[in-house]
Amino acid sequence: VGSATTRWRMAAACALIALAAPACAPRAAEKAATPLAVMLPPSERPFWDPIARRFEETHPGVRVDLVEGPQSTDLRENLYTASLLARDPTFDLVYMDVTWTAKFAAAGWLLPLDGSLTPEELARFLPAALSAGEFEGRLYRVPVRTDVGLLYYRRDLLEAAGLRPPETFEELRRDAAALQSPPGAWGFVWQGKQYEGLVCDYLEVLRGHGGYWVDPKTLSVGLDRPEALAALAFLVRCIRPDPISPPGVTTYQEEESRRLFQDGRAVFLRNWPYAWRLAQSEDSPIRGRVGVLAMVHEPGARSAGTLGGWGLGISRYSRHPDLAMEFIRAATTLEAQRVLCAPTGYAPARMEAYRDTALLSANPFLRELERLHAYAVPRPVIARYALASDILQRHLSAALAGSDVPEHALREAARETRAMVGGSRTAPAAAEARP
Ligand code: GLC
Repeated sequence: VGSATTRWRMAAACALIALAAPACAPRAAEKAATPLAVMLPPSERPFWDPIARRFEETHPGVRVDLVEGPQSTDLRENLYTASLLARDPTFDLVYMDVTWTAKFAAAGWLLPLDGSLTPEELARFLPAALSAGEFEGRLYRVPVRTDVGLLYYRRDLLEAAGLRPPETFEELRRDAAALQSPPGAWGFVWQGKQYEGLVCDYLEVLRGHGGYWVDPKTLSVGLDRPEALAALAFLVRCIRPDPISPPGVTTYQEEESRRLFQDGRAVFLRNWPYAWRLAQSEDSPIRGRVGVLAMVHEPGARSAGTLGGWGLGISRYSRHPDLAMEFIRAATTLEAQRVLCAPTGYAPARMEAYRDTALLSANPFLRELERLHAYAVPRPVIARYALASDILQRHLSAALAGSDVPEHALREAARETRAMVGGSRTAPAAAEARP
């Protein structure tokens, strides 16, 4: 079975990478250049382009290939996994979500980077962003940008109705219901599709109810506790019986929900910092009418925003690891942070960027963002994170779709999660990942 699985995985990796190849096919004159490749989401590629071209200028004979992968983090993780399992040297750099570090490092797919950066250099990054790149005391990923889940609202609509921004889930529900006029304009839009984004949204509601998913230290699972049920009940109630979210919310990723909000068709939006910059763009119908908060919470519990973010690691199978490290350095300077974060509104990973006049004038929201980062809560750092997330996604999704009741969905999710994490602390993905 093992070797058949391995063969299948290798075939899948080759097929998938062949699919991605046209995006990085070298022009004839460039064929002799040393390639350095990384896979990114299509939405980020235009903003990485100037960083890549600048690196080529300062490194004659090097060609940086920015390969566009699928937009969702789960699908890109699968592609990288297939490639790394096959020991494929195509990707030198791994552009990684915060949740990938433990799995990729435990599997031995990444080179440790701590020796390549001095403690002074490392101290320049936001501590939470930096520690998302660590596994068992070593650094495998240098943070480029960070993320935190936020609650956006239509300040103009709330003010006109004499309402203060909500603090609790009940107030959010009540205000959304009072201000919506469906189907033209909905109360609350978020990410309800079965993918990682749903886990991020649920985790914020769960924390805001005082609950937890997996405690990374004790491996205790909190999904069948009353807080977890109350959190899922809140999301289900957004959809029925008195909806404040459109029926289509169960198919939304970040962009679907943002577009609706930006078109003026929603009162509240859960999304990441990039949505602010777009809401304020010249052609945005809601420019100047948006407020932002940390996610609401139950009385007595605390607001939480899921910690997200992206960083660069180096593949163990890269043929050019030193060059890849040089690229990481170049991609994480203050100047590179300006290039990437000024036009996009991404939250930089370097602390000094939050005081940088160029960045602040491009995005004054950075000041507030620094404050909102205080609410950031990481997802559990476990090597089998992707499996835990799959289990949760599946059961949350069944409850949202109405094909399962929340109690049963969460009981099953808790049972499967316990069976999966139980006893797996020290023997994580490595054993199953190595062909
Ligand atoms: C953002 C976050 C990332 C998260 C993803 C979910 O890209 O930075 O951490 O996993 O959204 O869709």
